[in-house]
Amino acid sequence: MCGIVGYIGKRNAYPILIKGLHRLEYRGYDSAGIALVDDEGALNVYKCKGKVAALEHFVETKNLGGSIGIAHTRWATHGVPNDVNAHPHCSVSENIALIHNGIIENYRVLKDALEANGYTFRSTTDSEVLVNLIEYIRSTNCCTLLEAVQQALKQVIGAYSIAVIERGNRDEIIAARKSSPLVVGIGEGEYFLGSDPASLIEYTNNFVYVKDGEVALIRRNHPLKLVTLDNRESKIDIKQLELSISQLEKGGYPHFMLKEIYEQPKTIVDCIRGRVNPDSGNVKLSGVIDNRERFLRARRIIFVACGTSWHASLIGEHLIENICRIPVEVEYASEFRYRNPIIHPDDIVVAVSQSGETADTLAAVELARKAGAFVFGICNVVGSSISRATDSGAYIHVGPEIGVASTKAFTGQVTVMAMLALTIGKELGTVSDDYFHEVSQALLELPDKLTEVLKLDAQISELSKIFTYAHNFIYLGRGYNYPTALEGALKLKEISYIHAEGYPAAEMKHGPIALIDNEMPTVVIATPDHTYAKTVSNMEEVKARGGRIIAIIAHEDEQVRRIADYCIEVPVVTECLMPIVVSVPLQLLAYHIAVNKGRNVDQPRNLAKSVTVE
Ligand code: F6R
Repeated sequence: MCGIVGYIGKRNAYPILIKGLHRLEYRGYDSAGIALVDDEGALNVYKCKGKVAALEHFVETKNLGGSIGIAHTRWATHGVPNDVNAHPHCSVSENIALIHNGIIENYRVLKDALEANGYTFRSTTDSEVLVNLIEYIRSTNCCTLLEAVQQALKQVIGAYSIAVIERGNRDEIIAARKSSPLVVGIGEGEYFLGSDPASLIEYTNNFVYVKDGEVALIRRNHPLKLVTLDNRESKIDIKQLELSISQLEKGGYPHFMLKEIYEQPKTIVDCIRGRVNPDSGNVKLSGVIDNRERFLRARRIIFVACGTSWHASLIGEHLIENICRIPVEVEYASEFRYRNPIIHPDDIVVAVSQSGETADTLAAVELARKAGAFVFGICNVVGSSISRATDSGAYIHVGPEIGVASTKAFTGQVTVMAMLALTIGKELGTVSDDYFHEVSQALLELPDKLTEVLKLDAQISELSKIFTYAHNFIYLGRGYNYPTALEGALKLKEISYIHAEGYPAAEMKHGPIALIDNEMPTVVIATPDHTYAKTVSNMEEVKARGGRIIAIIAHEDEQVRRIADYCIEVPVVTECLMPIVVSVPLQLLAYHIAVNKGRNVDQPRNLAKSVTVE
């Protein structure tokens, strides 16, 4: 989704802005642009459709001077991706340049009013309306740029993070946020601005997270100032972020996605560190223990999430219902927030989000809090909006996930959910000591099991060649592995653009079986569990209709080997953690098929990493 970078200080702004844009590329975008005020005060704006590399090529012969500037990657919402719709947008007089992440919902009304006052527009974006509104206010009220931004934002309905600079003013950037991420990085006599602190980590690890409704006044040689739209000053709270640059680079892998798949043995170690005690086998999430009473009186747990995080939540539902015997509901955050849900003050709402910035999940959190529920976050990005909006939570600690298709975050989320279920289950007394220790021991063994699974990579790469040109896939699984089937199908469609559907295996007979033929591969998760025999019968039904089967099996499973066309054999772990083991070969299968098809694996078309608009 759109990315924002800004710089003001003593260095040349251009290289810093371009580096920042490259670091934000993972978020997904379709055009890029930059605005600089040079030392004479001239405002130079350059933008074009396509990748940041295209922008770099475009500006090669241009004036790139200036120690203040703003830059943007755009993910189209209002208007097609083209040069004109790319940001920055300039006001009619070309005195003010603005970059914007988010959506101005009432842009039509504002645009009509501006048109009535003689304003004309070059683009079809909502963002160009905002920059002209700022200019209109600034000229008619003869006010400062800060005041004009404050007054304009009071008229805006929607979500935004923005940054604004002005011709003739090389000393000031005005930035503001509502429901869309924005941080100010603090350097020595310089400031950085970004949608994601990770994009600025080579310059500083001191960050101020701008809050909703705040405007940042970032001035050369002045302390940072945060004010509300009503000009009340807010406290500056500097947070330190521990992150290394190597975590943001491919480290010799051809793609971030492959690197992240391979990181999983280590990310699980990081995820369980300090939470599963290797000596006693005890499991503790402090976010639960610190709010013990709240969890003990929970009548219901509601998971809210989107996409892969929603799939992980479905596994969380099984874990919590089995281990804690608390009823669980799993909701798409986007549906939950608009359907007037029944939320009791005794409910616990668990918001699951890798980025911690997903607009729908954030809105669901706000709704749940208003209804008096206790909100627990399971996020990856430290300091993200959702992690700050929740009452308590547990980070998954898997490090930055740059590939658009989520991999290590999914396995980290399921691992945290297992620890969540064990911690609550123990407090409630709903889990036996034997089962508690079986699962905690299995958590400790997971990293080694995943290392074993990764040895399947060469076999899966070969297998992928057979299925690269299939047009449709179906993924079947049951119980804990029904969500794994959904996730496997999502991975394939996201990065290879092959249509794929996940189904509970037994549901196949109620419709999808009509699709089965020799052309449509069926991926069946047939690892041992209490529905194993039923799943084997479903495989027979697929074979009887000429379907081709790729089966994920455990052990030397002769029965399934006789039915399936191809088998991928994974190590066995306790049933409730099998999704973590099984998801890895499914990630690899999707990855290799996408590579065979020549797809842009890390930045698939139309997708964004951090979905900060509804
Ligand atoms: C799929 C994927 C998306 C995200 C979804 C929610 O690979 O990455 O489906 O899971 O957009 O994102 P987060 O978890 O950041 O809230």
